[in-house]
Amino acid sequence: MKHPINAILIGAGQRGADVYGTYALAHPDEICFVAVAEPNSERQARFAAQHKIPSQNQFESWEPLLSRPQYGQVALVCTQDQQHTAPTLAALRAGYDVLLEKPMATTVQDSRLLADTAEESGHQLHICHVLRFTPHFTKMREIILSGVLGEIISVSHRENVSWWHMAHSFVRGNWRKTAESAPMILAKCCHDLDILIWLLDDRCESLSSVGGLRHYRPQNAPEGAPSYCLDGCPVAENCPYYAPFIYEDLLPLWRNYADTSQGFERAVMRAQERAPGLVQSLSALLPSLRQVSEYRGWPISVVAQNPTKEEIHNALKSGPYGRCVYHCDNDVVDHQVVAMQFEGGASVTLTMHGHSHTEGRFTRIQGARGELQAGFGYGGSWIEVNEHRSDRCTRYDTSVVRSGHGGGDEKLMAAFLKSVSESGTHFAKPSASHLSTARRSLESHLMAFAAEDARLGEKVVRMADFR
Ligand SMILES: NC(=O)c1ccc[n+]([C@@H]2O[C@H](COP(=O)([O-])OP(=O)(O)OC[C@H]3O[C@@H](n4cnc5c(N)ncnc54)[C@H](O)[C@@H]3O)[C@@H](O)[C@H]2O)c1
Repeated sequence: MKHPINAILIGAGQRGADVYGTYALAHPDEICFVAVAEPNSERQARFAAQHKIPSQNQFESWEPLLSRPQYGQVALVCTQDQQHTAPTLAALRAGYDVLLEKPMATTVQDSRLLADTAEESGHQLHICHVLRFTPHFTKMREIILSGVLGEIISVSHRENVSWWHMAHSFVRGNWRKTAESAPMILAKCCHDLDILIWLLDDRCESLSSVGGLRHYRPQNAPEGAPSYCLDGCPVAENCPYYAPFIYEDLLPLWRNYADTSQGFERAVMRAQERAPGLVQSLSALLPSLRQVSEYRGWPISVVAQNPTKEEIHNALKSGPYGRCVYHCDNDVVDHQVVAMQFEGGASVTLTMHGHSHTEGRFTRIQGARGELQAGFGYGGSWIEVNEHRSDRCTRYDTSVVRSGHGGGDEKLMAAFLKSVSESGTHFAKPSASHLSTARRSLESHLMAFAAEDARLGEKVVRMADFR
């Protein structure tokens, strides 16, 4: 058995504990968390217990942890968007190689500072652009690089955020206010902008953008709708955003999975939607069904620390996720389009919106010799290539069964650990993996900042000015 890399975790929330913590538990030969910083005492205790971290290595914040001598080789920074820069700078200066959640920072200045500091320190700093690691986008890039599409003329990419994911994260949840997190084009689409420049192996020359917050506003509230859904909402039976419908019945989640699954899995999701009691009874015979009948994952893991039926109900009575979507303090957009001219000549559009019936990304790429269409969704993903001359149609199934971000989460972590163990503290070689260094991530982040600038200022932004 090889020696695991010792790691520290800053922020034991959904990403830190549930995604990377879970990876460490499943791969004890690769990574071992030896210290944690987390102000929420329940989360801190739970993470420490799961990873057997002694009490002297548990901290309420990153400052005391990073002021101690180094505990290990790597630090994972998984705090909220506005709290990325300071702990990452401190971790790099303390000698750690860092895996930092996206967005790398919420301002142009901080993003630059992170890229510069990483290079000065000689330590690795990678940003969690998980899509690069999915079989789906990896295959898409391979197809483009193969030349089968010929010269790429135009790309249209859609980030279709489902209506209930929008309500959860960007209306009721952590990413609802620009000042407290980031503009939605950065928070949600830095992945997409990163994927576009990665797929085309090109940079954006100029862009413009339109969009705004259209729907989730007080003027659209149904008559008599109270501040909290459970306070006797008169449209409880009809409103799609009724909180118990989303979080207690979990119907949108099961429907999304059912819509995008096939065979037995689809039948289970449909049964869970219509007769959850049946799935629960059958799970005594088929233990694999417990994943569904005892589901405790996202989004309910965000609503309550211990998401039992009772805890969820209590959280909805007065917590943020029980609020009427028309009476929240949200200000981020619910639709935005970015039109881009790339340096190599391709025109590219990115459409992001929060009103999709089914969550998923769609990409259409027009080349001089062929066309690619692709869907990347909850339960399934596919790519179809049509060649002009031969009329040949090739379809690829790029689905990954129930895995975070279409398989991207695990592969990203594995690549980071490989990069750290192979190249020591040296900067990752570009060919070594799909990992995005801070310098490379800076480009997609600058595009997002530029898109927001263009939208608010109603202008065309030249990227050279931003760089
Ligand atoms: N890569 C992806 O695809 C992806 C997906 C979802 C979220 N994210 C990003 O991951 C980050 C974390 O998101 P999340 O959903 O896990 O959030 P979260 O709120 O669940 O977790 C953040 C944790 O940081 C802790 N924290 C706050 N102050 C701290 C401090 N001073 N020191 C240490 N810990 C502190 C919080 O208590 C919380 O537990 C966000 O920036 C988010 O945008 C990335």
